[in-house]
This record gives sequence, C-alpha cells and structure tokens, in this order.
Amino acid sequence: MIRVKFSALAFAAMALVAASALAALAQDEAEQPKPPRQDWTFSGMFGIYDKAQLQRGFQVYKEVCSTCHALSIPFRTLADPDGPGFTEDQVKTLAATYQVTNAEPNEKGEIFKRPATPADLIPRPEAYPNDQAAAATLGKAPPDMALLAKALKYERGFPWFVFDALPGLEYQEMGADYIHAILTGYTKPDDLQWNLYYPGHKIAMPQPITNGAVDYKDGTPPTLDNYAKDIAAFLSWAAEPNLTERKRIGLRVMIFLFVFATLLYLTKKRIWEWVH
Ligand code: HEC
Repeated sequence: MIRVKFSALAFAAMALVAASALAALAQDEAEQPKPPRQDWTFSGMFGIYDKAQLQRGFQVYKEVCSTCHALSIPFRTLADPDGPGFTEDQVKTLAATYQVTNAEPNEKGEIFKRPATPADLIPRPEAYPNDQAAAATLGKAPPDMALLAKALKYERGFPWFVFDALPGLEYQEMGADYIHAILTGYTKPDDLQWNLYYPGHKIAMPQPITNGAVDYKDGTPPTLDNYAKDIAAFLSWAAEPNLTERKRIGLRVMIFLFVFATLLYLTKKRIWEWVH
C-alpha cells in the first residue's frame, strides 16, 4: 500500500515537472518567437536567385545599410550572371563613384586615394573606419555583411533541430528568414531599439528602414516587407554566390547516376537472360 502511494506520488511529481517544463517552453516561444519562414526563389533543389530581386537588394544595401555595415566583397562579383548580373559597364561606373586608398604609395612615397575599380573591395562605411569607431558611436559594431546570411543561425526547436544538425539536410534559408524577421520586427513604435526577433529584444541597431525609404525603379511596391525580402535575398547571394552552380552540378550528377543505374540494370538482365 505504501509502495503504491509512493509511486503515485513519484508519478505526480514527474508529471508536474514535465508540465512546468512545457509551460516554460511555451512561455519562451511566446517571448522569443522564431522568425517566420518566407518563400525564397533560391530554396529547394531547383531554386535559383532572382536577378531583379538581388539588384533591388543591392540598392537597399547601398542606400541604407552601407551607412553602418561593411560588405567586403569585390565590386566585380556584382556582375555575376548567377547573382545580381549587373553589366561590366554598370559595375565599372559604380566602382568609380567610390574612393579607395591605393595599396602602394606613389613614387614620392605618398599614400594616395584613387577611384575604385571592379577588382577593389567595396570600401567600409565612411563614418566608421574601423569596428572600434563604430562601437563607440553605436554601442556595438555592426557586423560585416559579406557572410552575415550564413553566420546567423538560431534554434528551430523540435523536430527541426534534428535535421539542422545533419550536414546537407539543414534548412539553408535560416539567415534569410532571420534578416527579414529582424527588419520587420520593430513592433514597438515608441522604442526603436526593441525587436521582437532579436534574442533578449534589446538591439543596438535602431530601426534602419521603413515603408517608402527606397525608391524602386522596376515597379516593385516600396514596402518594408519587400525591402526586407530583397536585402535578405541579396545578402544570401553575397554569402553563398556558388549556390546555383552547386545545384546545377548536383542535378547533373543525379541525372548521370540515374542513366548509369538504368544501364547497369539492363546489362544485368541481358547477362542473366539464359538463367531460368
Ligand atoms: C545606424 C547604423 C545601422 C544601419 C543603417 C543598419 N544597421 Fe544593422 N546593425 C547595426 C548595429 C549597431 C548592429 C549590431 C546590433 C546588435 O547586435 O545589438 C547591427 C546588426 C544587424 C544585424 C544582425 C543582428 C544579429 O542578430 O546579430 C542584421 C541582420 C542587420 N544589422 C541588418 C541590417 C540591414 C539589412 C540594414 C539595412 C537595411 C542595416 N542593418 C542597417 C547598425 C546599423
């Protein structure tokens, strides 16, 4: 009888612990919601980047984010036909509007500035020559955007973390979803450094972009949601410019394997034909 009571008690205690753990999880989820999944043209086996979208994303970077964030990629990559696909001339003209410090001094030994060429890296924001200067003004240094889309990872919770732990199966568009979520997550109009999706909510970046801030030339509605999608897509490309090529190769390998397997099967049938 005592034993029964004891096990009933143990059971009740366990149920209580489990219930409070679940409640804590639910509370966590409510306070720190996961970035909602977006549709990306570059997701899935056949997904590729949308050139027009990446060009708009670059415009958002150039007109807004580049005030604070570096993007350490060479100008010439902007002509990538699998990426933004700007023409060589457009890239040359764009590069020439920036001034960079020449790597070598001139014959008088002076360091000098010159217009950038497509081979140069996009220069850092003028206002912040280094991370210390940026942190001194902004409270925290804005991360370089070249690899940002790949670096931003978050826990997706059960059961997804099982897949995310396996190389090749992990959800690839996490960074893009997160960037979109951050830009649309300033939901307290009286606190421009409160963000629904930033861990702990207090973010050093004040709301950087709102409806109508960038003037699109291709008729895409100038909404915050579109800006967020376009810059997230652009930064995904910047962090992973070889994605399209990799998928193309993957597809060819699959087709090859399929043809090869069919041939093997037919050969096997032919060789063993006489065995009945
Ligand atoms: C006024 C300067 C400023 C501008 C403009 C700005 N940012 Fe930031 N950004 C920051 C700072 C500072 C941080 C570091 C914030 C932190 O970790 O608290 C940051 C961090 C971020 C992060 C990382 C958040 C994280 O979880 O680590 C993303 C993503 C981001 N910015 C995107 C953008 C995009 C996209 C734009 C352009 C639309 C932009 N930022 C414009 C200052 C800026």
